[in-house]
Amino acid sequence: MTTDQATQTLNPRVAEVFLDVVGSVADVIRTRRVTFQEFREAIGFLEDVVKEGELPLLMDVFLGVAVDDVNYSANGGTESNLEGPFYIPDAPILQAPYALPRRDNEPGETLLISGTVAGLDGRPLVGAMLDVWQANGAGEYSHFHPGVPDFNLRGRFSTDSEGRFEVRTVVPSAYEIPKDGPTGRLLAALGRHFFRPSHLHFKLSHPGYNPLTTQIYFEGDEYLRSDVVGAVKDALVVKLQMHEGAGDLARAAVDRPFYACSYNFVLQPQA
Ligand code: BEZ
Ligand code: FE
Repeated sequence: MTTDQATQTLNPRVAEVFLDVVGSVADVIRTRRVTFQEFREAIGFLEDVVKEGELPLLMDVFLGVAVDDVNYSANGGTESNLEGPFYIPDAPILQAPYALPRRDNEPGETLLISGTVAGLDGRPLVGAMLDVWQANGAGEYSHFHPGVPDFNLRGRFSTDSEGRFEVRTVVPSAYEIPKDGPTGRLLAALGRHFFRPSHLHFKLSHPGYNPLTTQIYFEGDEYLRSDVVGAVKDALVVKLQMHEGAGDLARAAVDRPFYACSYNFVLQPQA
């Protein structure tokens, strides 16, 4: 392909951003006086990242927060947060009473998540769709951790006639980035730890409103202030309350301690 042909076929936005990226990297090469050997080692590292399927992970660890920052418009709705590399579309649509699909021996204490979805004017959004995904109590995501059934701890459900929802699941543990791959080796070389605080992922949608991708974190988590990807926002941190003894959980009686948390989401109307 000649240069002219390439320019004709490239989307101008892609061309502009690509040339900026190349220019910024070239500046670093000049400022740091990068040697040919270092250049080849960097290429080898990126080849390993791709070979081991870690490109989405590497990009999310180092650049995801910047993308979230420039795409969030602060106008009163719930704050957005990273989608991360572990989202799988088309999760099962759940039937009420809602419970994310899980195994009988799923690692993690029982958790009841409840809350509401409303518009900026406070009006409850009936039938808003929530798409939830999370790691289990051993830090494992289905589709990414061998041995975990597909769509485990992933599901979609909607708010009731008053804009409320309630779903049963397990408390996720802190998530540890794989240590053995190139991303983990790079983090170790930078002297960084591998942990994200425990979190739940949400995508919310309702006709006439901007879709929202966000996460919920828990007060007191030891990694809140040192998240390896630096994504935690104070407005997304909730209390995880322990309920001792027997309890009525998502209309299904349970006879062991369980945890509960709540979040009231606010969506922005489409412009
Ligand atoms: C996550 O939210 O699980 C995640 C985000 C960025 C990098 C790795 C994991
Ligand atoms: Fe996650």
